[in-house]
Amino acid sequence: MKSCFVFGTRPEVIKIAPVYLYFKNLGEQVIAIATAQHREMMDMMVEVFGMKPEYDLDVMTHNQSLNTIVARVMERLEPVLMKEKPDIVFVQGDTTTAFTACLCAFHLSIPVAHIEAGLRSGNLYDPFPEELNRRLIDISCKYLFAPTEKAKQNLLREGIEENRIFVVGNSVIDALQLIRDRVNMISLRRKFTDSDGYILMTLHRRENIGERMRSVLRATTRFAQETGIKVIFPVHKNPRVRQIVSEEVGNNPSFILIEPVDYLHFLSLLDGAKFVVTDSGGVQEEAPSFKKFVVVVRETTERPELIEAGLGVLAGTSQQSVYSALNQANDKNLSSSENPFGDGKTSERIYRITRGDNVWC
Ligand code: UD1
Ligand code: UDP
Repeated sequence: MKSCFVFGTRPEVIKIAPVYLYFKNLGEQVIAIATAQHREMMDMMVEVFGMKPEYDLDVMTHNQSLNTIVARVMERLEPVLMKEKPDIVFVQGDTTTAFTACLCAFHLSIPVAHIEAGLRSGNLYDPFPEELNRRLIDISCKYLFAPTEKAKQNLLREGIEENRIFVVGNSVIDALQLIRDRVNMISLRRKFTDSDGYILMTLHRRENIGERMRSVLRATTRFAQETGIKVIFPVHKNPRVRQIVSEEVGNNPSFILIEPVDYLHFLSLLDGAKFVVTDSGGVQEEAPSFKKFVVVVRETTERPELIEAGLGVLAGTSQQSVYSALNQANDKNLSSSENPFGDGKTSERIYRITRGDNVWC
């Protein structure tokens, strides 16, 4: 059985790599296809996981539009799939790469497996355009690998047949377990800071770019100045994000602004943080494994498990709501590293299910 794994952005590599490596280590025929929707940030992750994509579609353009990504991936992926004739195509998450690869495979009558199926915020415009991408992928693929029971229920509510849905956990936990024990966390993060107990921040969502992002940064500035807590912030490569960050906190001594870091360094920074402020999906899923409370700076969430378990707060994006969430987070001390998103066995489950062994379900 020949399996193609298509990915293009940083989080897709992180969450596909453990599944791809699991298949590969068992001697399965695997083909890695990088769209390179993210050039530098994808390459960084591909290297960490030791992947060597057979194909690199090199689609990224500076300040790319969503439709440009769709067009370039579609045009460049089709001949690859036609040549390779895989039995199955794996896509992950809700990016434009994932949606387009799914559509391309569907048009060629190749079955698709969706890793991280069933996440829903309930608002088509938040996250934008990811909520639409998820729904379109989930309608059309053969295997829906839902990370949690809640994700499965979302799919059932939409009328998706139960025999296509498998609750397997989130492969991000497999990824962090693969990486975590490889390195000395403390020495890695000493490249950026002499002491622990800082806030780790990431921001990049399209729907937050603009006033929302400015409000989050202003609230964090106020909190950091009042408490003396530093903020370590690897700034996403998106030029629109960079402009806002530079205008709002570029010269602010409370902020340690750094380039995006590879996965080893990011986990080391997570490990040393007091708590996390983020609009990222993956970071919300990883933080519980490091006992870090998460301030989710978004208006909606598709990861209610975090909030319901008391491991994070949905802070919104107004200055006042973010500022009070930061104060709330400052008082938290999580004691358990139990993670509601997975147990590190997702790749194994996906392997067994696609091989017809449903023992896990
Ligand atoms: C994309 C995904 C989002 C995911 C995020 C992960 C879509 C619609 N969005 O959003 O779901 O959470 O990736 O980070 O697919 N850039 C570089 N180098 C890089 C990466 C990005 O220069 O390595 C710049 C480019 O100018 C690019 C811009 O960032 O045009 C935005 O990248 P894009 O992939 O279009 O959107 P993201 O906001 O990163
Ligand atoms: N991450 C990383 N380096 C960074 C910032 C984030 O390795 O400088 C990792 C992080 O651990 C998480 C993933 O990137 O697994 C999240 O990516 P992002 O926030 O870009 O996308 P999302 O998860 O929101 O789709």
